[in-house]
Amino acid sequence: MTDVASVKSVEWKDDRLLLLDQTKLPVEVVVEEQTSVEQVWDSIKQLKVRGAPAIGVAGAYGLVVAMRGKRSLDRAAFLAELKKHAAYLDTSRPTAVNLSWALKRVVAATEASDASTGDDLFHVVTSTAVEIHREDIHICRQIGEHGVDLITEGMGILTHCNAGRLAASDWGTATAPMYVAHERGVPFSVYSDESRPLLQGSRLTAWELMHAGIDTYTITDNMAGFVMQQGLIDMVIVGTDRVAANGDVANKIGTMGVAILANHYGIPFYVACPFSTVDLATAVGKDIVIEERGEDEVTHFGLRRTAPEGIKVRNPAFDVTPNELVTGFVTDHGIVRPPYKENLQKLFG
Ligand code: MRU
Repeated sequence: MTDVASVKSVEWKDDRLLLLDQTKLPVEVVVEEQTSVEQVWDSIKQLKVRGAPAIGVAGAYGLVVAMRGKRSLDRAAFLAELKKHAAYLDTSRPTAVNLSWALKRVVAATEASDASTGDDLFHVVTSTAVEIHREDIHICRQIGEHGVDLITEGMGILTHCNAGRLAASDWGTATAPMYVAHERGVPFSVYSDESRPLLQGSRLTAWELMHAGIDTYTITDNMAGFVMQQGLIDMVIVGTDRVAANGDVANKIGTMGVAILANHYGIPFYVACPFSTVDLATAVGKDIVIEERGEDEVTHFGLRRTAPEGIKVRNPAFDVTPNELVTGFVTDHGIVRPPYKENLQKLFG
């Protein structure tokens, strides 16, 4: 058994940024040092590092990597460079708000400091990235503490994609209540949707939960309705990339279908997220930019072509679940219930 708690999606070690290459899981555990901002951009784009909180943390450290060679600049030139690199990293993936949130936070903290030399400003960039990373671990644990009572003995829980340890700095979001319940000795089973096209559910969630000793099944996406109909599922819990002010939820493509099925079968549908995923500046879900990814992800299974040459393809990486299908948000501040517009504003405004 792999000790999954020791496998980190993002690590800052001896002033070096190390990212786990999640595209190689579950077959190989490969960690890559990131030596340039372009490499960090590419690692985010290619989903070597993925999951909303993890790409926020990786983006913040990406700025450290970018500014490492700029310490001799004066204040104005340093800040101009920092903003340029933040804007560049922000173009890697559009949907998860945590990336732009973390980049903005590093830029704002650096601008707010009264440091006058590039060297001192660089220390602010580094300490802010480290702070975001540490906070993420604490926040995810809090999500687990607030959500643990939703899990009762013998329950079947369905999740979609990977909102686990691998998608954050530790604990994950949707998985945090599972890890805390498991620590407390509560027995339960997890059904992890495969999550086509990139299989984050069967490659990543199934891997991390199974190695943590949690009773886990993986199913293909089209099996979710059947396992619900069979009475195997008592609760759905998923993560999210962005929550609009009205409580609409962007998450991995297929999430909305799961929410509709859960609603049909009267199964509670929870969304777990840190405060940084709630985007009060986006009023409703249809305003969220949905990433479209390359055609090969749909026309191929791994390296093998499975669709005809020349076929037209759509590949939206996320969908938006309407707020009325969400039973509650499990956050680091507690569980948020409807009406979401008022209650999200009260807690995070
Ligand atoms: O494309 P991915 O793998 O980055 O998508 C990840 C998800 O959709 C997760 O559910 C979401 O980021 C929440 S992670 C705690």
